[in-house]
Amino acid sequence: MPNRLTCLVTGCAGFVGSHLAERLLVLGHTVVGVDNFFSGHRRNMATFATNPNFHFYERSITDPDIITELREAHPGLDRVMHLAAIVSVPYSIDHEEETMRVNWEATRAMHEEATTLGFHSFVYAGSAAEYGDTKTLPTPETDADDSTVHLSPYGRAKYLSSILMKSGAMGCSLRFFNIYGSRQDPSSPYSGVISIFIDRFLARKGVTIFGDGENTRDFIHVSDVVDAYMLAAGIDAPPLRGIYNVATGKGTTIRTLAETVAEVAGAEPVIEFAPPRQGDIIHSIADPSKIFAKGFTPKVNLRQGLESTVDSVRNDAG
Ligand code: UD1
Repeated sequence: MPNRLTCLVTGCAGFVGSHLAERLLVLGHTVVGVDNFFSGHRRNMATFATNPNFHFYERSITDPDIITELREAHPGLDRVMHLAAIVSVPYSIDHEEETMRVNWEATRAMHEEATTLGFHSFVYAGSAAEYGDTKTLPTPETDADDSTVHLSPYGRAKYLSSILMKSGAMGCSLRFFNIYGSRQDPSSPYSGVISIFIDRFLARKGVTIFGDGENTRDFIHVSDVVDAYMLAAGIDAPPLRGIYNVATGKGTTIRTLAETVAEVAGAEPVIEFAPPRQGDIIHSIADPSKIFAKGFTPKVNLRQGLESTVDSVRNDAG
């Protein structure tokens, strides 16, 4: 049995946070979870809510001294996996002050507390949105710098937080590209394309592609993202420092995606084309060689990942 660790997972009722908390608990670690249900759901915690090693706090990450308080309650707590955030880019554009307070100021305050308390590691959930609109393809980590024009307060706050992870006494930012998998909410117009396509094809409805279908995205399965967290947080080895893209390095066109999801869902690939969505970037593909060199390899290919996601959506519905 490896050492039992005590990890804080902020955003533990969210899509990625709930998968991360679940894995840590399965490995026998203790999870202190924080979520205020702004976009997370209690149902995402169903598989582990009653685990005796899970300690849940319905709190906001903007509460002052939250890390110090949680450490007093859980003296073994010495690592943070910080995922809680305002996750909608359009919402961030309409609520700039709130987004900067939650996504940037709270990250800075928690990181400072964790540093003062001598924590072992602090892993931040960065984003491809940090690269703005113009970039090298595939995109290396160096492509986002202080001159990057961020297209939203969301992208700006993620960038500032990532830079803090790099410049601070400790910390690591994982810059995620397009994550998909079970528990991703398809209900908003800004939901990830895979959750929308699965929802529509399983309901025997067609999908809408914005643009000509040739836009590309670098899709990565949530279980691979959890693997990246294990590496970054130093669960089995020393923690990573700095900024790392987390992606496959492979682009898939939205048209191919739609056809594959239809096939996996056993539906006719009924596709309607609509004008490009305002502000959409055309291609997004990461250069993930930096984290690959640290031993990370995505294990789930897109087809397998879509099959398991479709299965889990079917099971939830049934
Ligand atoms: C993601 C974020 C977005 C952010 C951007 C920055 C999500 C859900 N969106 O956008 O807020 O600004 O990263 O890097 O995480 N599409 C369709 N039909 C649909 C839905 C989407 O054709 O019904 C297309 C979109 O036009 C786009 C692609 O699918 O070309 C991917 O869309 P989406 O899943 O929203 O992700 P991003 O555009 O990468």
